[in-house]
Amino acid sequence: MSKQVQQRIDELREEINSHNYSYYVLDAPEVPDSEYDRLLKELSEIEQKHPELITPDSPTQRVGATPLDSFTEVQHEVPMLSLGNAFSDQDLSDFDRRIREGVESDMIEYAAEPKLDGLAISLLYKNGVLERAATRGDGRTGEDVTLNIRTIDAIPLKLRGKDYPAVLEVRGEVVMPKTGFEKLNQQQIKKGEKPFVNPRNAAAGSLRQLDPKITATRPLSFYSYGVGLVDGMVLPNKHSKMMDRLKSWGLRINPESQVVKGLKGCISYYESLADKRNSLPDEIDGIVYKVDNVKFQEIMGFVSRAPRWAIARKFPAQEEMTKLIAIDIQVGRTGALTPVARLEPVFVGGVTVSNATLHNQDEIDRLDARAGDTVIVRRAGDVIPQIVSVVKSKRSGKPRRFHMPTACPVCGSETARFEDEAVTFCTGGLFCEAQRKEAIKHFASRRAMNVDGLGDKLVEQLVDEGLINTIADLYHLKVEDLVQLERMAEKSAKNLVTSLETSKKTSLARFIFALGIHSIGETTAQTLANHFLSLDKIMNADKEQLLEVPDIGPIVADNLITFFKQQHNLEVVEQLLAMGISWPTIKQKSKTEQPLTGKTFVVTGTLESMGRNDAKAALQELGAKVSGSVSKKTDYVVIGENPGSKATKAQDLGITTLDETAFIALLNQ
Ligand code: IVH
Repeated sequence: MSKQVQQRIDELREEINSHNYSYYVLDAPEVPDSEYDRLLKELSEIEQKHPELITPDSPTQRVGATPLDSFTEVQHEVPMLSLGNAFSDQDLSDFDRRIREGVESDMIEYAAEPKLDGLAISLLYKNGVLERAATRGDGRTGEDVTLNIRTIDAIPLKLRGKDYPAVLEVRGEVVMPKTGFEKLNQQQIKKGEKPFVNPRNAAAGSLRQLDPKITATRPLSFYSYGVGLVDGMVLPNKHSKMMDRLKSWGLRINPESQVVKGLKGCISYYESLADKRNSLPDEIDGIVYKVDNVKFQEIMGFVSRAPRWAIARKFPAQEEMTKLIAIDIQVGRTGALTPVARLEPVFVGGVTVSNATLHNQDEIDRLDARAGDTVIVRRAGDVIPQIVSVVKSKRSGKPRRFHMPTACPVCGSETARFEDEAVTFCTGGLFCEAQRKEAIKHFASRRAMNVDGLGDKLVEQLVDEGLINTIADLYHLKVEDLVQLERMAEKSAKNLVTSLETSKKTSLARFIFALGIHSIGETTAQTLANHFLSLDKIMNADKEQLLEVPDIGPIVADNLITFFKQQHNLEVVEQLLAMGISWPTIKQKSKTEQPLTGKTFVVTGTLESMGRNDAKAALQELGAKVSGSVSKKTDYVVIGENPGSKATKAQDLGITTLDETAFIALLNQ
């Protein structure tokens, strides 16, 4: 029995390790995550029943149970070196010349590797088992971070194959991939904790945790780039060959690594990697060139703490220090107020930066950024420049804290910010010049007033030419005005005037939606129309009355009240009605009178004859409730093309499903 158990354990461990190898080292995953998790679960269950069979190198043993009190010191037998820097092609050319002269050869082959922006780590494998992991520290003395390093899935606890040396010290970089970094920071912010400034700090902070359980939750990864102490093997004569050996033992090597020929090869590698820099999964701050031939490395030797056979060619810095001159407000086309940092111009990430977004009040509070401060600006690739921190030690005097304005700097309307929302926005809507074009585009759009032939481009043209200022002006447009526009033929002009006329006959729900009130989408507009039956009643409803409406919460209620409180909005509505916009009166129907009252629908997939929102609106007009998710309370699920998991769930729960034909038939009944 026990023999069989041991056999299954061995099988599972081997399979899991082999999947890890395919995933991390070969970058070619073989099985889906679910299968991997299943294997791990099976192994863990067997081990729980037979704890005597657990070994430290089992894939279940990555996260230790007890936190440390402190890290112990580790002496590096072979010192961990640093690298000299090259900031230009000239520096690189000088380096290449020194090598060529030093080893008396015309052309040198270099192993070119991305310079990863993480943390140098030493991994000590004895007889193939990871025994100790240490930070670089000052190069001679580091800290023992074995328990934390064991939690990183990209680092094998046991080497593959059999031909590894008895003692193998692998050196490499622990990094936090960019996507993991973004996710971690979102979580930090959600938890009310400080986000990390960059992936390197996040990686360092994660390895410095005394509790390996915390490290285990951090998205860390690892790439090997060299060896330290090795015993029990004849080293290959090339660095690149050594890397191939490491790879065969299950250690991850950066896939961008390449052997290049001479200075020319170095420069073209630099150019191609610089181009790719932003799309690489990990943050890199340059390229490391290493003389590939180990004999040549020996000839070149070392100066102080750096080898003379390797150099780091740096990319332009992505972070620089500068002064925050002022914080200005920009009003976006959706009405959002965005604070913008005006900076003393600084060269960073390859361009001169004089503005950076500060996002919102929360972000400014988090940074505690104030006009006059010295700040660190980061521009990574095409990303909008950001302020990552304030250098508090350089603050002089007592600069004032920043507060978002209470009036819109463009139109003077009140600004508003609701609980749980980070954005402050202008309530001017239809009136605010910053939002005018967007407001008009929305008003004319298909699902709002449905003005045929009035596309976004034409709205821009009309506003730019001064022909319209507000949505009400649309209905004053005449064929004579329109034909003056570039690329506007008389026929199109006539058609547009006709469509405007046609659009006047609408529904109350469409009209409410067309006004573009913050957070009032089509569904809410329909709900309001169904409930209040007239525009007057909606405009005059107080908060209490609004909250009585199903699915209307305090944010929507406040938005409606603020909108209809503004004189300029009331004027626009009045003008529109005066121009003849009208809708059929909705007769008070008792709830039970509507054919679909009390029924809950879910719509999933793409419908051929109408958009999902139109389908929802049609259902609501018939009294149905439309929900976003399938539950036991759902009565019908309408299934279009390429439905998602909702269709399967409906079937599982035995809910009636309707295809498009059946759905249309139901609507027409
Ligand atoms: S080799 C003998 N290769 O850069 C040379 N280092 O500035 C020792 N680094 O401490 C380092 N990517 O943390 C080497 N492909 C790479 C690297 C790399 C990043 C870091 C490493 C080292 C620092 C030196």
